[in-house]
Amino acid sequence: MTIKAVVFDAYGTLYDIQSVASVTEEAFPGYGEIITQVWRIKQLEYTWLRSLMRRYQDFSVLTRDSLAYTLRVLGLKHDAAAFERIMDKYLHLELYPDAMAALTAMRDRKLAILSNGSTAMLTALAANSGLDRVLDATISVDAKKIFKPAPEAYSLIEERLAVTPSEVLFISSNPWDACGAKAFGLSVAWIERLTPEAMAQLCIKSDVLPPLTMFKALRTQMDELGIVPDHRIHALAELPALVARQTS
Ligand code: LAC
Repeated sequence: MTIKAVVFDAYGTLYDIQSVASVTEEAFPGYGEIITQVWRIKQLEYTWLRSLMRRYQDFSVLTRDSLAYTLRVLGLKHDAAAFERIMDKYLHLELYPDAMAALTAMRDRKLAILSNGSTAMLTALAANSGLDRVLDATISVDAKKIFKPAPEAYSLIEERLAVTPSEVLFISSNPWDACGAKAFGLSVAWIERLTPEAMAQLCIKSDVLPPLTMFKALRTQMDELGIVPDHRIHALAELPALVARQTS
């Protein structure tokens, strides 16, 4: 089957969400890592809670709410300017180092993002990182008012790119997203940036596990959902060869 479109998750897949740690640490020295991890965990939790409650708000609202939650529970007093400085980093996240080259190498396909991010967030992110020059579309789940992994969210790919699910390769490093896309019926390549062996090593290295290790244990390893992605790769750099192989 020919792959006509390669569609990417944004946060954690093309963009390194851990790159907010520089800003959170600068704003609250000594707290950068715990803020970064609790923020992301709560941000995703709110997408699932709001989807289940049918109380959709767009991802920029949830990103603000989850940051407010994080600073409150950690007892960190702040003014509006400090809050906005941290929020602004979400529009200037760093790309994974191999992202631009991988996408550029696949320009003969339709390239798109399908993300929980709002249209405004994704447009800014793509422009600020230069990815807008290689992407054919940035698709926000906002059009469906429900977050991934709801099937309605993945159905936007066919609607927007005019390709059938079997012509799509969906790429995510988020295990829950890889499973959601596969359950919907897409071919999926999951990026396993941290092998189970490396994960286990992190856990035995110290008595007190840092927040980042807990985050990795929760959000980088394949889930027990009985769903298996079609491909398991370790970096975006492996994608162009995988896509070329699927086509020949
Ligand atoms: C995305 C996040 C949630 O959809 O990973 O881009």
